[in-house]
Amino acid sequence: MANAVHGVMEFFSTAAQPTVLIFVAVLLLSLWMLSLRNPRVKWPPGPVCFPVVGCLPQMMISGRRRQPTDLLPWYDTYGDIMHVKFGEQHMIMLGTYELIQEAFVKNADTVSARPTWIYFLRQIVGKDGAGVLFKSGKAWKELRRFTLSSLRDLGLGRKSLQERIQDEARYLVQNIENENGKAFSPRERIGKAVSNIISIVVFGTRYDYNDTPEMLPVLEEVLRLGEGPVLLTNLARFIMPMKKMIALVDKLYSLIRQEVEKHRQSFDPTDIRDFIDLFINVTQEEEDPEVYTEWNVFRIIVDLYLAGTDTTANTLRWSLVHMVNHPDAQKRVQQEIDQVIGQGRVAKMEDKARMPFTEATVLEVFRLSTVGHCQARVPLGGPHATSETTNLAGYTIPKGTIIVGDLYRVLHDKNNFEDPYKFKPERWLDGDGKVVKSDKMIAFSMGPRICLGKGLAEMESFIFFTTLLQNFTFKVPEGEKPPDGVEGLNTFTFTPYPYNVCAVRR
Ligand code: HEM
Repeated sequence: MANAVHGVMEFFSTAAQPTVLIFVAVLLLSLWMLSLRNPRVKWPPGPVCFPVVGCLPQMMISGRRRQPTDLLPWYDTYGDIMHVKFGEQHMIMLGTYELIQEAFVKNADTVSARPTWIYFLRQIVGKDGAGVLFKSGKAWKELRRFTLSSLRDLGLGRKSLQERIQDEARYLVQNIENENGKAFSPRERIGKAVSNIISIVVFGTRYDYNDTPEMLPVLEEVLRLGEGPVLLTNLARFIMPMKKMIALVDKLYSLIRQEVEKHRQSFDPTDIRDFIDLFINVTQEEEDPEVYTEWNVFRIIVDLYLAGTDTTANTLRWSLVHMVNHPDAQKRVQQEIDQVIGQGRVAKMEDKARMPFTEATVLEVFRLSTVGHCQARVPLGGPHATSETTNLAGYTIPKGTIIVGDLYRVLHDKNNFEDPYKFKPERWLDGDGKVVKSDKMIAFSMGPRICLGKGLAEMESFIFFTTLLQNFTFKVPEGEKPPDGVEGLNTFTFTPYPYNVCAVRR
């Protein structure tokens, strides 16, 4: 032994520096190869993962311009269930409807947690999580039930949620009318209209499009800083501007706290105005004080803004992209509006059943422009995690593995939808012109974690979209290129490249 140590010392003292570096590199590589052959876990096939960074280099190659289609060829190489590593974090990607169903529905008991142990989330929500989006276990179920029933109760309130969305759609029309048919970017005003709906639900107020409520820029900054797959790795500790992020989140909490205090002062249990009132009510009834904490209500409010604004706004932004690119479809929607609604009133949900082509168009936007897809740049809402060892497709997946359902792949698989990259609302209609739903339409995910705001999102998408087309015909401005209908920017959710439209009064 002494001889061997002596030999190694001699080697290092006499070898040239490059030789030592090569030696160290080979040693590290061998250790890593050995770790890959770790007999304890037999992971599904997947791309080469490097030490420390995992598959991040391949996932980040084209940065913000990465397209959701970029990773699809990986499935051809490795199969429908794939193992990748985000830094040191193991992750399983599921690329078919059947696999996602096996994980999120059949194994819901063990695949419904969120990975709150990862550095970034631990910093923001604590290791036990909070709210709905980032809570797991029994408390998540209770808070989810409370939030869903709150949305339902508010929908039945003094002025129903539907009426508030109709009002907001009218404000949006007025705002667009001010452009007088000239080219404009619809981006920001759509964002403000949609975030007003969440403001109404949570705080009972809407804001004029010229006023920016203090919370919005803070939230936008949080979303911007939180983009990208690095977020899911422990490397976030070194790369993400965590101090800035935490300061922004603190700012959000203090703004929400001010609102909660204001509500407490004018609270009347016989006149519940919004989500905050419902929460004050439930805390007074002293139902499970460990679940109904102020910390959880703060988080739910942030969750509703995070999950409920960007998603719906981007769906509407995409729907205008498809309308200017497909004037025939736009005309067919307008014909249906004229027959069923006319010009004298605003659309309501009951109209949908009599407007199959419009319903099909909205479904096609949800499908083609999967805003909440989970792929190269896993959006925050997406990642599930195993709370126990779980068997998936014959593999034993250990506790603490991130599980991602690749909604984008399912919605763009030619076995599920013919010509998947074409905008074809007709695919949702049968020979009699009736809407045919498909199980494969999982833009809102499935299982007990399915989007909590699905009903609200469908109502907003239908009413905003129909009201816009009732009032305007949207066109590509003269001399400008038609907007891209497939590729876009992977921000927090999937958004179209910036574009302008002209809105011609009908
Ligand atoms: C077009 C619009 C929308 C789309 C495509 C969408 C899609 C999604 C998806 C894919 C998830 C992840 C589900 C999973 O983890 O398996 C999700 C979760 C969630 N969404 Fe939505 N969403 C939309 C609008 C909304 C709205 C308007 C709200 C607000 C009420 C909302 C609230 C939530 C919440 C709170 C969660 C987390 C649920 C949980 O973890 O239990 N979403 N959504």
